[in-house]
Parts: sequence; structure tokens; C-alpha cells
Amino acid sequence: MNNIKDQENLNKKIVLLRLDLNVPLKNGIITDETRIDKILPVIKFLINNNALIVIISHIGRPNGKVNNDLSLKPICKNLGKKINKKIRIINDNIFELKKDDLFKNSEDQIVFLENIRFYKEEEENDIFLAKHLASLGDLFVNDAFSCSHRAHSTISKITEFLPSFAGLQLETEINALKKVTTEIKKPITCIIGGSKISTKIGVIKNLIPKFDNIIIVGGMANNILNFKGNHIGKSIKEENCEKIIKEIFETSKYHSCNIIYPKDVMVGKNVDDKSQVKKLDKIENDELILDIGPDTVNEIKNIIKISKTVLWNGPAGYFENPNFANGSYEIAKAIIKKNKERSIYSVVGGGDTVALINQMNAIKNFNFVSTAGGAFLEYLEGKELPGIKALN
Ligand code: 3PG
Repeated sequence: MNNIKDQENLNKKIVLLRLDLNVPLKNGIITDETRIDKILPVIKFLINNNALIVIISHIGRPNGKVNNDLSLKPICKNLGKKINKKIRIINDNIFELKKDDLFKNSEDQIVFLENIRFYKEEEENDIFLAKHLASLGDLFVNDAFSCSHRAHSTISKITEFLPSFAGLQLETEINALKKVTTEIKKPITCIIGGSKISTKIGVIKNLIPKFDNIIIVGGMANNILNFKGNHIGKSIKEENCEKIIKEIFETSKYHSCNIIYPKDVMVGKNVDDKSQVKKLDKIENDELILDIGPDTVNEIKNIIKISKTVLWNGPAGYFENPNFANGSYEIAKAIIKKNKERSIYSVVGGGDTVALINQMNAIKNFNFVSTAGGAFLEYLEGKELPGIKALN
């Protein structure tokens, strides 16, 4: 894999830079800037080498349609402020863009393309989109490790048409995760939460042979609770997961891996509600599970206490509402305590989990903080990620 930092002459070269600026937004306001901060080194490197930069990113899941709530404008503005440069955002139809249009204005050194997922071709890994975008630049850089598990046009297809390089953050993430997977100390606990159930549920089975404990919290735990015969009210869940859950429990027996899931929960009638502790057999039809309950918190804390390595991806509840943040905070506090005693190696990953740790001002209390969620889990699984394969 070639790294852009080893490329000598970038003067006036047009670099298509794929980033993951999929940051949490609330009413158009960025609530966590970590993913923007992490890519500043590659931007500064390219600026210092006089390259012309075309930033490509997505935010959210607009499903191939223009959605003004998922515009990259606030991110473009935020980045411009951080590097003290004016960045032009291009809203025109990408398919009508020509190379000469990009830097017509001689003051421009960076332009931003609007959310690439406004084009359905992106997620279809479409060859024409890849080819067309490639025609706009001289080289391609992937500094979006957290998207590299997606076989999408601007991640894995575009590399077929341009000299392609790894970015600085992507290399840092891979090196750190390589270290984690080769030097890992047992007992190993993996905590998986968050709301992206479909991305993660398939990964768990493959992680079982590698870990001693897998703790399932967040949205995915609802599927497990339902599978075990509990009523989960109107909580989020993924359809048609029974087969995979059955396999998870069978595989875990074979490999002596403990699967831990909530024994009690916190519910509300909507995400803005107050929280109420509930035993699993007491959940009403109009209630949503939005966090783990106190008994579950205690069980998780005891497991963290005896673990030598902990890998954590995805919050335990809807932490955006402080009434449902307790489970995630308690997990974080238990890890931080052991980290301060130097008795655990801790890695945390994923946009929301990093936002949570940031809220607690505790980034420095984890051994490694990855920007990646799904990509982090798939890497741990031992999969070759499409974006990395393309660079190799
Ligand atoms: C992430 O937040 O993990 C990446 O931006 C990928 O997002 P996706 O799960 O919508 O593909």
C-alpha cells in the first residue's frame, strides 16, 4: 500500500481525497468534531505540498437522493475555519463536472463535493461514477478508514482508474489495529452496541472464536431479547435475524465465549422521555428500550474488572438524551478506572462512541481511539476490507 506522504511531487496535482466526515449533526450543528480533527494532518500535508484538493465524503444515509438535512455545508464551513481557508462547496451535478471547472478560481486550493451518497451510484459501486470522478483528478487518496468496509464507488472502484494512495489517518488506524490484533492479552472482552444493527449483527459470529466475552448492548440487544422470548414494545430491531442469532449462541458454546446481553433495561415512551428501570417481563407495548438497566451495568462492570483487553464499539443506549446515557457512562468509567491503573488495554471505535468519550473528556484514557465503527469490527473479524484491498 503506497502512502501519500511518500509521494514527492504533488505540486498543482489534483488530489481526489476521500474522507469520512460522517459526523453527528443535530439541527445542522456538529455535535462531535473528532472525525474532522483526525483528517487535518492529511489536509495540511497536501496544502504544504501545493496540491489542489477535491474532498469527497458522505454524511448519513440519504439513499441516493438529495436531502438538505444531510448536506456537507456545515462540515465544509467547520473545516474551512479550522484551516483558515475558504473552501468552495460544489453543488452541481457531479456527472456534468469537468476537470477544468474545479479550480477556475485561482484562489481556490480546496473544493468540496456535496454528499456523495446523494448519488445512488455511490453505494452501487458504479463504475461510471468512479470513472467520471477519476477524470477530474490526477490521483486518489483514501483517508477514510471508517468507510473502507464499504464496497462503494469512491472507496473501492475509483482506484481502478487513478494512481491511489493511503492517507495519513488510514495508515495510523491500520497500524494501531494491527498492533491490537497481534499483541492482544486475554481475557478479551468486546462490547458492541449502537443502532446500526444490520452492519454489526453478522460480524459477531466471526468474532466469537477470538474473544472470551462479547457484551451486546444498544439496538442489537433488542433483537437478542426478542429472540429469547421477551416483549420489546416499540424498540428498534432488525427483521429476519433469528437464524444469525441462533448461530451466535451455538458458536459461542463451541468456543466457550460468554455472550452477555441485558438482564434489565431503561425505557421511555419516546427518545426525549424520562427513563424508567424495567425488568424484561414488564415492558409495555408503547415503550422503547433506550438504555441498559442497573443490574446489567453491574454485570458489565464485573466483566471489565477481570478483562485484560477491552474493545468497545457502539454506545449502550440513546446517550444523546442524558436520561439514557447512564449505561454508556458507567461502561466508560469502568474502563477508564482500569486504564488509569494500567491493568487493561482499551480500544474504542465508532463515531457515536468517540463522541460519548469526548463528552466525558476522556479520549486520553483509552489506549487507542479509532474513528471507525463497522470497519473497526470487520477488521477485527479478520476480513480484508474492500477499500484496503483496492489500495493494495
Ligand atoms: C461510519 O459512520 O461508520 C461510516 O461513515 C460508514 O457509514 P455507513 O454505516 O452508513 O456506511
